[in-house]
Amino acid sequence: MRRVLLLVATAFCLCVFVAADTQDERHEESLVLQVTKGNFNRTLRQHKQLLVLFYAPLSGEGRRVSEAFEGAAAELQGSEVKLAVIDATKEKDLAKDLNATTHPAIRLYLAGDKYNPAHCPLPQSSASIITWLTRRAGSVSDIIADLSLLEASEELTVVGFFEKLDHEYVQVFYSAAIELPDMNFVVTQNPEVITKYGRTHNVVLLIKKSKLIQAYKMMPQTSKEELIIFITVYQMDPVTEYTGETAAQILSSPVLNHALLFIKKSSADFVEIHSAFDSAALEFRLQILFVLVNVEESRNGRVMEYFQVRDFEAPLIRLVNMTDHVTYHLPSDSLDKETIKRFCQSYLDGNAKICPTVRSPALCSHYGRNLPRL
Ligand SMILES: *[C@@H]1O[C@H](CO)[C@@H](O)[C@H](O)[C@H]1NC(C)=O
Ligand SMILES: *[C@@H]1O[C@H](CO)[C@@H](O)[C@H](O)[C@H]1NC(C)=O
Ligand SMILES: *[C@@H]1O[C@H](CO)[C@@H](O)[C@H](O)[C@H]1NC(C)=O
Repeated sequence: MRRVLLLVATAFCLCVFVAADTQDERHEESLVLQVTKGNFNRTLRQHKQLLVLFYAPLSGEGRRVSEAFEGAAAELQGSEVKLAVIDATKEKDLAKDLNATTHPAIRLYLAGDKYNPAHCPLPQSSASIITWLTRRAGSVSDIIADLSLLEASEELTVVGFFEKLDHEYVQVFYSAAIELPDMNFVVTQNPEVITKYGRTHNVVLLIKKSKLIQAYKMMPQTSKEELIIFITVYQMDPVTEYTGETAAQILSSPVLNHALLFIKKSSADFVEIHSAFDSAALEFRLQILFVLVNVEESRNGRVMEYFQVRDFEAPLIRLVNMTDHVTYHLPSDSLDKETIKRFCQSYLDGNAKICPTVRSPALCSHYGRNLPRL
């Protein structure tokens, strides 16, 4: 009897092993690997390039990024890069061990090194992920192009015009291109371009529909970060309305001071106040991001709740420091250009009045976090 039991037990174990094995094979065959604490080390060892998405299944942004990630997996099938996901809500220890404290996040682990992954910017689409991987692995020679094909494009093109291609400016330019995979970048040495737009060399031009939007003169001290701020700021209009489409761009802006105008778009003074806000915005472009919140839009309820603004109080302006989430209130009823400018300047000088009605920033996350992406 004991022998029989033992046999049955052995058979059972064998079955379990066989089952586990086929499951493992299936897991290897799938486009995206599911990684857990138990198989992370092995997975990392097996793939020279492992692109890992840390995500929370229930977050709206997590789902959006997961879709882009799955799209990229399909396109990268058969390439050197293996894609894997880690459910950060289930694999808390693993995420903590890997210092992946925020999610969604995408990291590229190279040659089995778990300590120095490259951080992929949060993608708008699968194409962003592919472009990021391609630019990372490539070099500036890949983006040297004849501008004529791109300059008439509806989308913004970032054009670098350089005297010498081995200059360090070109490296700074290319490293910004890696970090901004959703944008077109072109390097040209064609002097006609520069004559056409009336510039000298070593400039970065933002061009849309053959029109020069803005130019940036590269300086020896210009860093990648400064160039990224310049590009991302001028990519947006001076004033951006907060909507489902713009929320991600607003909240990921490297400009960490936001001025919010809460207003009824249907009100009689809308055009006048909007125009004053817009003119003020032009004078603080690299320092303060100007955002318009239509209080008549019911989907803006969460933003209004965060700032404790009720619709009958509009129009009013709040400034928020996105680093410490402290909010400031403009203590005036008149919203003309000079008043708005004075308020912004006093904020930058550290003299603005903290808004007493907004709850302590320690009690609530900043206005973008936890808000649905509309
Ligand atoms: C994975 O490897 C690390 C060393 O890099 C080790 O500390 C850890 O215990 C391993 N994890 C598992 C689940 O084997
Ligand atoms: C995580 O951060 C800690 C503290 O900075 C560091 O000691 C550790 O090596 C990091 N782990 C990984 C996997 O990067
Ligand atoms: C925003 O907050 C950070 C951190 O408290 C502070 O260093 C910075 O000076 C603040 N910015 C402004 C313009 O007040």
